[in-house]
Amino acid sequence: MKAVVCTRYGPPEVLRVAEIATPVPRGNEVRIRIRATAVTSSDCYVRGLALSPTYRLMARFALGWNAPRQPVLGMVLSGEVDSVGPDARSFEVGQPVFGFDRHRFGTYAQYVCWPEDGLLAPRPANLTDEEAAAIPYGGLLALSYLRKADVRAGQRVLIFGASGAVGTSAVQLARHFGAEVTGVCSAANVDLVASLGATTVIDYTSEDFTDRAERYDLILDAVGKRKSAAALGRCRRVLTPGGACISVDDGRPNLRRADLVLLGELATKGELRPVIDRTYALDDIVDAHRYVDDGHKRGNVVIAVA
Ligand SMILES: NC(=O)c1ccc[n+]([C@@H]2O[C@H](COP(=O)([O-])OP(=O)(O)OC[C@H]3O[C@@H](n4cnc5c(N)ncnc54)[C@H](OP(=O)(O)O)[C@@H]3O)[C@@H](O)[C@H]2O)c1
Repeated sequence: MKAVVCTRYGPPEVLRVAEIATPVPRGNEVRIRIRATAVTSSDCYVRGLALSPTYRLMARFALGWNAPRQPVLGMVLSGEVDSVGPDARSFEVGQPVFGFDRHRFGTYAQYVCWPEDGLLAPRPANLTDEEAAAIPYGGLLALSYLRKADVRAGQRVLIFGASGAVGTSAVQLARHFGAEVTGVCSAANVDLVASLGATTVIDYTSEDFTDRAERYDLILDAVGKRKSAAALGRCRRVLTPGGACISVDDGRPNLRRADLVLLGELATKGELRPVIDRTYALDDIVDAHRYVDDGHKRGNVVIAVA
């Protein structure tokens, strides 16, 4: 099969398209014919190991010292079940699925084998594979942190970094939970964030949200501490008594299969809209990584797998 392999850590150019053996499902695994995947910010961290020295050391132990042990990166997929292992019972051959696996990787390819009890769910029927591939990463991370913060109806929630994969999901999911949402992004993304349900949108390039009189029950940093640290350092002064400020970089997210199913249901009902910035072919993975490395994508960058 065709796949993208990463044989050492480094810039986007370390990725190359290759022919490798098609995996065979064993035990409770299902083999998925991948139609679309996504280049996530996490993929770029894994490929480039552009992390603090401590995290880089931990990543080398976890992922492989000089190169990822699993040379095919990619955590997100949409496609259909193509073959099932002898013990797999949950999915049928031909069933459209979408999913996420941040440990196994392997989705920059035409096929991957994943256990049937992983983060895999029926693909929403109204979405294309490319749209479905734009849901799991940002959706599951945003849901995990909104749950951690116990977001509730009627609360005033500010999403800092509202235009990325996590941010565009967080805005829509906070609205789903009944919160009144303020989004913070740059001028170019103000209309997008408003269209996702934010009642107020603040352009961080021209205004500091902590200078406003508004108070928030929850501030969710959806862009990550390295980019948001200065702004979040001042966030206490705009919290309500008992309000909380959390970051998508705080602790490990709790990613649940039930939440993937929920995201699929919300997408089916039109309550969760996949936001796709650009779509690339698998052959153009290096360009896709260069673009995501820049750190300014709107929502998601999707890869169509022919
Ligand atoms: N805890 C975990 O295990 C875990 C896992 C995965 C990811 N994360 C964290 O989640 C973060 C977000 O991931 P993502 O995929 O959603 O990122 P992303 O899609 O790459 O974020 C891109 C967006 O960030 C915005 N942005 C860039 N610099 C900004 C700044 N200084 N202030 C406000 N917005 C800014 C950009 O908007 P503009 O172009 O308008 O600036 C762009 O729309 C990651 O960077 C990582 O820190 C944590």
